Amino acid sequence: MNIESLLKQKTFSREELVYLLSCQGEDEQKLFAYSKHLRDRLLSNNIHLRGLIEISNLCIKDCLYCGIRKSNKQAKRYALDEAEILKAASYASQNRYGSIVLQGGERNDPDFVREIESIVYQIKKQSGQKLGITLSLGEQSEDTYRRWFDAGAHRYLLRIETSNEQLYQQIHPHTQNHSFSTRLKCLQTLRKCGYQTGTGVMIGLPFQTLQNLADDLLFFKQTDIDMVGMGPYLEHRETPLWSFRNRLIPLKERLNLSLHMVSCLRILMPYINIAATTALQAIEPLGREKALAIGANIIMPNITPAVQKTKYQLYENKPDTDESAEAATLQLIESVRNCGCEIQWDNWGDSRHFRNKTLTASPPMTSKAQKPLKSPESPAK
Ligand code: 5AD
Repeated sequence: MNIESLLKQKTFSREELVYLLSCQGEDEQKLFAYSKHLRDRLLSNNIHLRGLIEISNLCIKDCLYCGIRKSNKQAKRYALDEAEILKAASYASQNRYGSIVLQGGERNDPDFVREIESIVYQIKKQSGQKLGITLSLGEQSEDTYRRWFDAGAHRYLLRIETSNEQLYQQIHPHTQNHSFSTRLKCLQTLRKCGYQTGTGVMIGLPFQTLQNLADDLLFFKQTDIDMVGMGPYLEHRETPLWSFRNRLIPLKERLNLSLHMVSCLRILMPYINIAATTALQAIEPLGREKALAIGANIIMPNITPAVQKTKYQLYENKPDTDESAEAATLQLIESVRNCGCEIQWDNWGDSRHFRNKTLTASPPMTSKAQKPLKSPESPAK
């Protein structure tokens, strides 16, 4: 396969993607250089921040890979209260992050829905509507998604985990509330509500093949997703998937494969937001920077209050857990510079892919809290 002519294509077949995901040596260098070039040319070298607030590890789900699954009795449970979340959000505003992500274990009880609605509303209010809010709180009803959107959230992340239904079933319990079709439906509902919609997968899962990963990339394209956060699967001993750890590819290979995924996705969908995820950093201290250096454009510094941060253990060796928000920010600025990129402060950093769609759509997305086009940001160069 001639890599130069392959890279010039606008889209790829599954087989071509399998090749790109596995190429090494000179071809790998050319792949990485091209995805970086595209990001720099189309989106500039600007990196957008999302202050990540892990609001709670209480979870009604029992995903077979996840350290905060309901059945893990070893997990020390916590939930930040409203004041703690508002304080963390205020830290993000004052430090010019521009945007935050509220992420947590899944709950859908009426108290939770109400609390989130109120917190989102208050964060918008206390920041003078300046802080962009992304939610990552799992599968919810259309009514809940709408309420949170109307309160002021404008982006939502819900990973599909894998686009292969059979593999999805292998890594989730076979109960009614772990259904692949519900997950897909939720992604559609999120867009219908007007959210910039993000998804993602884990890379290097037991039973996963390169073909599955190529299909994941094509799935992102087919569903016309606005943002993607994906990273290596990392085994956790208090989960059922731990027993398959002997089938996994080595950590370094999982990291490398994740970089190939980021690179291919940047070429397939040049204008979307792609996160350099924390799981990359769990394998290698500069794992996230490696993703920024080849085309990712989002980074999510963890600004969860230090006392609770250690308890949000989705996987083992989760980094950053004993570092203060201040120390993490300083270190981040430095390392973003080191990979030739620049942080865009005070900026929502919306998905250009979404904005391009919204600008050409008629009529535009409807909902009273949908204001990304009025965000305090300059157009990307
Ligand atoms: N390894 C890597 N990522 C994980 N997640 C959950 N458990 C693990 C794990 N063991 C990811 C899932 C989920 C996100 C919040 O964290 O993709 O959607």
